[in-house]
Amino acid sequence: MTELTIRRPDDWHLHLRDGEMLKAVLPETARHFARAIIMPNLVPPVVTGKDAAEYRDRIMAAKPDGSKFQPLMTLYLTEETDVRDLRAAAEIGLIHAVKLYPAGATTNSASGVRDFTKVKRVLENMAQIGLPLCVHGEVTDDEIDIFDREAVFIERVLDPIRRDVPGLKVVMEHITTKDGADYAREGGDNLGATITTHHLVINRNHILVGGIKPHYYCLPVAKREEHRLALRRAATSGDPSYFLGTDSAPHTDANKLLPCGCAGCFTATNTMSILAEVFEQENALDKLEGFAALHGPAFYGLPVNQDTITLTKGDPVTYPEKIETGDGPVTVFDPQMPLHWSVSA
Ligand code: NCD
Ligand code: ZN
Repeated sequence: MTELTIRRPDDWHLHLRDGEMLKAVLPETARHFARAIIMPNLVPPVVTGKDAAEYRDRIMAAKPDGSKFQPLMTLYLTEETDVRDLRAAAEIGLIHAVKLYPAGATTNSASGVRDFTKVKRVLENMAQIGLPLCVHGEVTDDEIDIFDREAVFIERVLDPIRRDVPGLKVVMEHITTKDGADYAREGGDNLGATITTHHLVINRNHILVGGIKPHYYCLPVAKREEHRLALRRAATSGDPSYFLGTDSAPHTDANKLLPCGCAGCFTATNTMSILAEVFEQENALDKLEGFAALHGPAFYGLPVNQDTITLTKGDPVTYPEKIETGDGPVTVFDPQMPLHWSVSA
């Protein structure tokens, strides 16, 4: 196969940031993607319907001319989240999900949840109205090894929450382990999982062997090779439990290349080329449309996109090493393999 036309994809987990960064990174996503679930971890976070409406307006104002890109807004769950405000924002179609960050788990998560009993009423209301909870699935306890934090979260936090609030729709965001993939597959219609582009490509050796590579550091951190292979099997399986959430998370090089650098890989620019390469390697190009364009809308109860993109195989395509932003350069994820699929939108 040298040409593949699929419905225009959506990104079910995206960081667009704000201000100058937003202006620079939004066109990278809007070029190929119709919609994206927009992460609310700004500083300060997007916690109320008013915050979400204002952030959506800033995104719409930053869109390239003629772009039909649609941001799907989310609220950042805190122990103070107001149920009435949340329900009102969902009823008018402003928000499509609520994001749970365990406090301290990742970039800008200090306002996240410490005591899960405090958010139970919010979660019950979300279950009633069918509003999905997007979960950053890592425990933050000091004594738990960073490579085990996802598996421990499933057992200690996620499974109890799902038992406690039956009917709650949950997306396990950016799963990085076989444990995560197995749990998502067995969880029924109310459970889904996003998988990033970069976790299909790198394992922990890419971060650490031959010198530390800050541009491969993200959270949840990439795990052993056996987990990467499990994620590739999941993404290319055709199982509707799994869908694309790039977690494209831009940080300036200045903020990545520090003694204590930021977590996040910026993949918006070359994601579809990389995914085509990965799915071809797995003999599963016929499963790419499901992963990138069909399973997500089905889970979120949204229509699939009517227009298409075409991927064409040829000589290797190159992408810029960095994109320039008003805040400084941002390095584009390097998949360390030639990419043969170009995308025309
Ligand atoms: C994200 C960010 O930079 O906002 N970083 C990351 O490594 N993925 C936060 C997140 O999704 O955990
Ligand atoms: Zn993220």
